[in-house]
Amino acid sequence: MPNAGVSAADRAEAEGCLEVVSLIDEGQARAQLVREAVEGLLRAPLRELPAKLLYDERGSQLYERITELAEYYPARAEREVLERRAAEIVALADPAELVELGAGSAAKTRALLAAMNARGSLRRYVPLDVAIETLDRAGRALCAEFPGLRVHALAADWEQHLDALPDPFPGSPRLVAFLGGTIGNLKRAARIRLLAHLRETMRDCDRLLVGIDLVKDVSVIERAYNDAAGVTAEFNRNVLRHLNRLLDADFDPDAFAHRAFYDCEKQWVEMRLRALRPVQAKLGRADGRALHLDPGEEIRTETSAKFSEPQFAAELAAAGLVLEASWRDSAELFTVVLARPAGSTAASGRAARAARNKRGA
Ligand code: AVI
Repeated sequence: MPNAGVSAADRAEAEGCLEVVSLIDEGQARAQLVREAVEGLLRAPLRELPAKLLYDERGSQLYERITELAEYYPARAEREVLERRAAEIVALADPAELVELGAGSAAKTRALLAAMNARGSLRRYVPLDVAIETLDRAGRALCAEFPGLRVHALAADWEQHLDALPDPFPGSPRLVAFLGGTIGNLKRAARIRLLAHLRETMRDCDRLLVGIDLVKDVSVIERAYNDAAGVTAEFNRNVLRHLNRLLDADFDPDAFAHRAFYDCEKQWVEMRLRALRPVQAKLGRADGRALHLDPGEEIRTETSAKFSEPQFAAELAAAGLVLEASWRDSAELFTVVLARPAGSTAASGRAARAARNKRGA
Protein backbone atom coordinates (compact mmCIF):
# COMPACT_ATOMS: atom_id res chain seq x y z
CA MET A 1 0.00 0.00 0.00
CA PRO A 2 1.43 3.37 -0.90
CA ASN A 3 1.94 5.65 2.06
CA ALA A 4 0.82 8.87 0.39
CA GLY A 5 -1.33 11.15 2.55
CA VAL A 6 -0.22 9.63 5.87
CA SER A 7 1.42 12.38 7.89
CA ALA A 8 4.14 11.88 10.48
CA ALA A 9 1.53 12.84 13.09
CA ASP A 10 -0.86 10.09 11.96
CA ARG A 11 1.97 7.56 12.01
CA ALA A 12 2.94 8.65 15.51
CA GLU A 13 -0.59 7.99 16.72
CA ALA A 14 -0.65 4.64 14.97
CA GLU A 15 2.53 3.75 16.83
CA GLY A 16 0.66 4.31 20.09
CA CYS A 17 2.27 7.56 21.11
CA LEU A 18 -0.99 9.37 21.87
CA GLU A 19 -3.77 8.41 24.27
CA VAL A 20 -6.67 10.80 24.89
CA VAL A 21 -8.89 10.02 27.88
CA SER A 22 -12.07 11.99 28.48
CA LEU A 23 -13.28 12.45 32.06
CA ILE A 24 -15.80 15.17 31.36
CA ASP A 25 -19.46 14.40 31.75
CA GLU A 26 -20.87 17.05 29.38
CA GLY A 27 -24.37 16.96 30.90
CA GLN A 28 -23.12 17.29 34.45
CA ALA A 29 -20.62 20.05 33.58
CA ARG A 30 -23.34 22.00 31.80
CA ALA A 31 -25.82 21.62 34.66
CA GLN A 32 -23.22 22.89 37.10
CA LEU A 33 -22.37 25.88 34.89
CA VAL A 34 -26.09 26.71 34.59
CA ARG A 35 -26.43 26.58 38.41
CA GLU A 36 -23.36 28.80 38.97
CA ALA A 37 -24.41 31.29 36.28
CA VAL A 38 -27.99 31.68 37.54
CA GLU A 39 -26.91 31.95 41.17
CA GLY A 40 -24.28 34.56 40.26
CA LEU A 41 -26.62 36.62 38.09
CA LEU A 42 -29.26 36.84 40.78
CA ARG A 43 -26.72 37.73 43.49
CA ALA A 44 -27.29 41.49 43.85
CA PRO A 45 -25.75 43.95 44.48
CA LEU A 46 -22.59 42.51 42.88
CA ARG A 47 -23.66 40.04 40.26
CA GLU A 48 -20.88 37.72 39.15
CA LEU A 49 -20.51 35.10 36.44
CA PRO A 50 -18.08 32.16 36.50
CA ALA A 51 -14.96 33.07 34.49
CA LYS A 52 -15.29 29.70 32.71
CA LEU A 53 -18.06 31.32 30.66
CA LEU A 54 -15.42 33.36 28.84
CA TYR A 55 -14.07 30.26 27.13
CA ASP A 56 -16.59 28.91 24.63
CA GLU A 57 -15.14 28.29 21.16
CA ARG A 58 -15.31 31.95 20.11
CA GLY A 59 -14.06 33.11 23.52
CA SER A 60 -11.03 30.81 23.27
CA GLN A 61 -10.25 32.22 19.82
CA LEU A 62 -10.57 35.78 21.13
CA TYR A 63 -8.27 34.93 24.05
CA GLU A 64 -5.68 33.60 21.56
CA ARG A 65 -5.90 37.00 19.81
CA ILE A 66 -5.49 38.80 23.14
CA THR A 67 -2.21 36.97 23.76
CA GLU A 68 -0.86 38.52 20.54
CA LEU A 69 -1.84 42.10 21.41
CA ALA A 70 0.87 44.68 22.06
CA GLU A 71 -0.82 45.81 25.29
CA TYR A 72 -1.27 42.30 26.72
CA TYR A 73 2.20 41.74 28.18
CA PRO A 74 1.64 38.56 30.34
CA ALA A 75 1.71 36.00 27.52
CA ARG A 76 4.70 37.63 25.83
CA ALA A 77 6.62 38.00 29.08
CA GLU A 78 6.04 34.40 30.10
CA ARG A 79 7.04 33.18 26.63
CA GLU A 80 10.30 35.13 26.97
CA VAL A 81 11.03 33.49 30.34
CA LEU A 82 10.29 29.99 29.10
CA GLU A 83 12.28 30.41 25.90
CA ARG A 84 15.30 31.84 27.70
CA ARG A 85 15.23 29.77 30.87
CA ALA A 86 13.79 26.38 29.92
CA ALA A 87 17.17 24.62 30.11
CA GLU A 88 17.78 26.04 33.61
CA ILE A 89 14.29 25.12 34.83
CA VAL A 90 14.62 21.61 33.50
CA ALA A 91 18.11 21.21 34.96
CA LEU A 92 16.75 22.11 38.42
CA ALA A 93 13.58 20.04 38.28
CA ASP A 94 15.13 17.19 36.26
CA PRO A 95 11.78 15.80 35.08
CA ALA A 96 11.07 12.73 32.98
CA GLU A 97 7.49 13.85 32.49
CA LEU A 98 5.59 17.07 32.25
CA VAL A 99 2.00 17.42 33.49
CA GLU A 100 0.29 20.61 32.32
CA LEU A 101 -2.97 22.06 33.63
CA GLY A 102 -4.96 24.06 31.07
CA ALA A 103 -2.56 22.95 28.35
CA GLY A 104 -4.51 24.25 25.33
CA SER A 105 -2.39 23.96 22.20
CA ALA A 106 0.74 23.28 24.32
CA ALA A 107 2.30 26.43 22.86
CA LYS A 108 3.48 27.55 26.31
CA THR A 109 5.23 24.28 27.07
CA ARG A 110 7.07 23.57 23.83
CA ALA A 111 10.25 25.18 25.16
CA LEU A 112 10.13 22.96 28.27
CA LEU A 113 9.53 19.81 26.25
CA ALA A 114 12.38 20.73 23.90
CA ALA A 115 14.72 21.30 26.85
CA MET A 116 13.74 17.95 28.38
CA ASN A 117 14.30 16.31 25.01
CA ALA A 118 17.72 17.92 24.68
CA ARG A 119 18.66 16.50 28.11
CA GLY A 120 17.49 13.08 26.99
CA SER A 121 15.01 12.85 29.90
CA LEU A 122 11.69 13.39 28.09
CA ARG A 123 9.38 10.35 28.46
CA ARG A 124 5.80 11.54 28.85
CA TYR A 125 3.63 14.64 28.51
CA VAL A 126 0.29 14.72 30.35
CA PRO A 127 -1.78 17.72 29.19
CA LEU A 128 -5.11 18.47 30.92
CA ASP A 129 -7.67 20.62 29.19
CA VAL A 130 -11.44 20.75 28.73
CA ALA A 131 -11.11 21.02 24.93
CA ILE A 132 -10.68 17.47 23.63
CA GLU A 133 -10.13 18.47 19.97
CA THR A 134 -7.33 20.84 20.96
CA LEU A 135 -5.68 18.09 23.03
CA ASP A 136 -5.92 15.68 20.14
CA ARG A 137 -4.48 18.12 17.61
CA ALA A 138 -1.63 19.25 19.88
CA GLY A 139 -0.88 15.66 20.93
CA ARG A 140 -0.49 14.50 17.32
CA ALA A 141 1.84 17.39 16.50
CA LEU A 142 4.00 16.73 19.58
CA CYS A 143 4.27 13.02 18.81
CA ALA A 144 5.60 13.91 15.40
CA GLU A 145 7.99 16.51 16.80
CA PHE A 146 9.44 14.42 19.66
CA PRO A 147 9.96 10.80 18.62
CA GLY A 148 9.76 8.46 21.61
CA LEU A 149 7.47 10.81 23.59
CA ARG A 150 4.25 9.39 25.05
CA VAL A 151 1.35 11.82 25.28
CA HIS A 152 -1.34 10.86 27.81
CA ALA A 153 -3.92 13.61 27.32
CA LEU A 154 -6.77 14.11 29.78
CA ALA A 155 -9.91 15.94 28.72
CA ALA A 156 -10.56 17.04 32.26
CA ASP A 157 -11.29 19.89 34.64
CA TRP A 158 -8.27 20.51 36.86
CA GLU A 159 -10.54 21.59 39.70
CA GLN A 160 -12.17 18.14 39.73
CA HIS A 161 -10.05 15.50 38.09
CA LEU A 162 -6.52 15.68 39.50
CA ASP A 163 -7.01 12.26 41.04
CA ALA A 164 -7.11 10.83 37.51
CA LEU A 165 -3.48 11.71 36.74
CA PRO A 166 -1.55 8.60 35.69
CA ASP A 167 0.88 7.21 38.26
CA PRO A 168 4.28 8.86 37.98
CA PHE A 169 7.26 6.82 36.83
CA PRO A 170 8.88 5.32 39.95
CA GLY A 171 12.10 7.15 40.79
CA SER A 172 11.68 9.71 38.00
CA PRO A 173 10.71 13.29 38.87
CA ARG A 174 7.55 14.83 37.49
CA LEU A 175 7.14 18.53 36.71
CA VAL A 176 3.60 19.92 37.00
CA ALA A 177 3.10 23.20 35.12
CA PHE A 178 0.29 25.72 35.49
CA LEU A 179 1.22 28.57 33.19
CA GLY A 180 -0.22 31.71 31.63
CA GLY A 181 -1.04 33.41 34.92
CA THR A 182 -4.30 31.45 35.00
CA ILE A 183 -3.90 30.74 38.72
CA GLY A 184 -4.64 34.46 39.17
CA ASN A 185 -8.16 33.90 37.82
CA LEU A 186 -8.98 31.92 40.96
CA LYS A 187 -9.83 33.64 44.24
CA ARG A 188 -7.33 33.16 47.09
CA ALA A 189 -9.15 30.30 48.84
CA ALA A 190 -9.57 28.40 45.56
CA ARG A 191 -5.90 29.00 44.70
CA ILE A 192 -4.73 27.52 47.97
CA ARG A 193 -7.15 24.62 47.60
CA LEU A 194 -5.78 23.85 44.14
CA LEU A 195 -2.14 24.21 45.25
CA ALA A 196 -2.78 21.93 48.24
CA HIS A 197 -4.46 19.38 45.99
CA LEU A 198 -1.50 19.51 43.61
CA ARG A 199 0.83 19.11 46.59
CA GLU A 200 -1.02 15.89 47.51
CA THR A 201 -0.20 14.43 44.08
CA MET A 202 3.50 15.26 44.43
CA ARG A 203 6.34 13.15 45.79
CA ASP A 204 9.41 14.80 47.35
CA CYS A 205 11.24 14.68 44.03
CA ASP A 206 8.41 16.35 42.04
CA ARG A 207 8.20 20.04 41.25
CA LEU A 208 5.49 22.58 40.45
CA LEU A 209 6.01 25.39 37.92
CA VAL A 210 3.56 28.31 38.06
CA GLY A 211 3.38 31.47 35.94
CA ILE A 212 2.20 34.53 37.90
CA ASP A 213 1.63 38.11 36.89
CA LEU A 214 3.43 40.64 39.08
CA VAL A 215 2.06 43.77 40.74
CA LYS A 216 3.21 46.79 38.76
CA ASP A 217 2.29 50.25 37.54
CA VAL A 218 -1.51 50.37 37.39
CA SER A 219 -1.53 51.98 33.95
CA VAL A 220 0.43 49.08 32.45
CA ILE A 221 -2.01 46.56 33.95
CA GLU A 222 -5.13 48.47 32.94
CA ARG A 223 -3.90 48.96 29.37
CA ALA A 224 -3.47 45.17 29.06
CA TYR A 225 -7.20 44.69 29.77
CA ASN A 226 -8.44 47.68 27.73
CA ASP A 227 -6.71 47.21 24.39
CA ALA A 228 -7.15 49.79 21.68
CA ALA A 229 -8.50 47.31 19.13
CA GLY A 230 -11.32 46.28 21.48
CA VAL A 231 -10.50 42.55 21.42
CA THR A 232 -10.76 42.26 25.22
CA ALA A 233 -14.07 44.13 25.14
CA GLU A 234 -15.38 41.62 22.59
CA PHE A 235 -13.98 38.72 24.67
CA ASN A 236 -15.88 40.11 27.68
CA ARG A 237 -19.17 40.74 25.83
CA ASN A 238 -18.98 37.26 24.26
CA VAL A 239 -19.90 35.92 27.71
CA LEU A 240 -23.45 37.11 26.99
CA ARG A 241 -23.65 35.15 23.74
CA HIS A 242 -22.46 32.07 25.62
CA LEU A 243 -25.00 32.78 28.36
CA ASN A 244 -27.79 33.10 25.81
CA ARG A 245 -27.09 29.57 24.57
CA LEU A 246 -26.50 28.11 28.03
CA LEU A 247 -29.54 29.61 29.73
CA ASP A 248 -31.81 30.08 26.75
CA ALA A 249 -31.53 33.78 27.57
CA ASP A 250 -31.84 36.88 25.37
CA PHE A 251 -29.14 39.34 26.45
CA ASP A 252 -28.21 41.92 23.83
CA PRO A 253 -24.39 42.23 24.00
CA ASP A 254 -24.65 45.74 22.50
CA ALA A 255 -26.57 46.87 25.58
CA PHE A 256 -23.39 46.45 27.67
CA ALA A 257 -20.06 48.23 27.92
CA HIS A 258 -16.78 46.48 28.76
CA ARG A 259 -15.10 47.75 31.90
CA ALA A 260 -11.75 46.59 33.31
CA PHE A 261 -10.00 48.25 36.22
CA TYR A 262 -7.35 47.45 38.81
CA ASP A 263 -8.45 47.23 42.45
CA CYS A 264 -5.34 48.13 44.49
CA GLU A 265 -6.79 46.74 47.70
CA LYS A 266 -7.77 43.37 46.27
CA GLN A 267 -4.70 43.39 44.01
CA TRP A 268 -6.68 42.16 41.06
CA VAL A 269 -8.05 43.35 37.73
CA GLU A 270 -11.80 43.04 37.45
CA MET A 271 -13.64 42.72 34.18
CA ARG A 272 -17.25 43.81 34.29
CA LEU A 273 -20.14 44.35 31.91
CA ARG A 274 -22.06 47.56 32.54
CA ALA A 275 -25.67 47.97 31.39
CA LEU A 276 -25.89 51.01 29.08
CA ARG A 277 -29.69 51.12 29.29
CA PRO A 278 -32.43 49.28 31.18
CA VAL A 279 -32.02 45.54 30.52
CA GLN A 280 -34.79 43.00 30.84
CA ALA A 281 -33.51 39.51 30.00
CA LYS A 282 -35.39 36.25 30.24
CA LEU A 283 -33.48 33.33 31.75
CA GLY A 284 -35.25 30.41 30.10
CA ARG A 285 -33.40 27.70 32.02
CA ALA A 286 -33.90 29.37 35.39
CA ASP A 287 -37.56 28.41 35.70
CA GLY A 288 -38.42 31.25 33.34
CA ARG A 289 -37.13 33.88 35.76
CA ALA A 290 -36.06 37.25 34.36
CA LEU A 291 -33.20 39.58 35.19
CA HIS A 292 -33.70 43.30 35.37
CA LEU A 293 -30.73 45.68 35.34
CA ASP A 294 -30.86 49.44 35.69
CA PRO A 295 -28.53 51.54 33.53
CA GLY A 296 -25.08 51.52 35.16
CA GLU A 297 -25.61 48.17 36.93
CA GLU A 298 -22.72 45.78 36.46
CA ILE A 299 -21.94 42.09 36.26
CA ARG A 300 -18.45 40.93 37.20
CA THR A 301 -17.09 38.43 34.65
CA GLU A 302 -13.49 37.84 35.80
CA THR A 303 -10.90 38.68 38.43
CA SER A 304 -7.20 38.42 37.60
CA ALA A 305 -4.93 38.63 40.65
CA LYS A 306 -1.46 40.16 40.54
CA PHE A 307 1.22 39.09 43.04
CA SER A 308 4.53 39.92 44.62
CA GLU A 309 6.82 36.89 44.96
CA PRO A 310 6.67 36.92 48.79
CA GLN A 311 2.87 36.95 48.66
CA PHE A 312 2.80 34.00 46.30
CA ALA A 313 5.43 32.20 48.42
CA ALA A 314 3.05 32.60 51.40
CA GLU A 315 0.21 31.00 49.41
CA LEU A 316 2.52 28.16 48.41
CA ALA A 317 3.48 27.72 52.06
CA ALA A 318 -0.19 27.58 53.09
CA ALA A 319 -0.51 24.66 50.66
CA GLY A 320 2.59 22.80 51.91
CA LEU A 321 4.94 24.00 49.17
CA VAL A 322 8.19 26.00 49.19
CA LEU A 323 9.32 28.47 46.54
CA GLU A 324 12.61 27.06 45.27
CA ALA A 325 13.50 29.35 42.36
CA SER A 326 11.95 31.96 40.09
CA TRP A 327 12.68 33.61 36.77
CA ARG A 328 11.44 36.98 35.46
CA ASP A 329 11.25 38.44 31.98
CA SER A 330 13.65 41.27 31.13
CA ALA A 331 11.05 43.97 31.91
CA GLU A 332 10.22 42.26 35.26
CA LEU A 333 6.51 42.12 34.50
CA PHE A 334 5.89 38.43 35.04
CA THR A 335 7.53 35.60 36.94
CA VAL A 336 7.71 31.84 36.62
CA VAL A 337 8.05 30.12 39.99
CA LEU A 338 9.38 26.65 40.76
CA ALA A 339 8.08 25.10 43.99
CA ARG A 340 8.87 21.91 45.87
CA PRO A 341 7.00 20.08 48.62
CA ALA A 342 7.77 21.46 52.09
CA GLY A 343 10.12 19.08 53.85
CA SER A 344 11.81 17.91 50.64
CA THR A 345 15.29 19.12 49.93
CA ALA A 346 16.41 21.12 46.94
CA ALA A 347 18.51 18.21 45.81
CA SER A 348 15.79 15.55 45.89
CA GLY A 349 15.18 15.67 42.14
CA ARG A 350 18.83 15.21 41.43
CA ALA A 351 19.04 12.56 44.20
CA ALA A 352 16.26 10.52 42.56
CA ARG A 353 18.10 10.69 39.26
CA ALA A 354 21.39 9.66 40.87
CA ALA A 355 19.65 6.68 42.52
CA ARG A 356 18.08 5.77 39.17
CA ASN A 357 21.42 5.99 37.39
CA LYS A 358 23.01 3.85 40.08
CA ARG A 359 20.32 1.21 39.69
CA GLY A 360 20.75 1.31 35.92
CA ALA A 361 24.58 1.10 36.17
C1 AVI B 1 -6.29 33.45 31.16
N1 AVI B 1 -5.99 34.59 32.02
C2 AVI B 1 -4.68 34.42 32.65
C3 AVI B 1 -6.17 35.91 31.40
C4 AVI B 1 -5.86 37.02 32.42
O1 AVI B 1 -5.07 37.89 32.08
O2 AVI B 1 -6.38 36.96 33.53
C5 AVI B 1 -7.57 36.09 30.85
C6 AVI B 1 -7.79 37.46 30.29
N2 AVI B 1 -8.77 38.25 30.62
C7 AVI B 1 -8.68 39.37 29.92
N3 AVI B 1 -7.61 39.30 29.16
C8 AVI B 1 -7.05 38.11 29.35
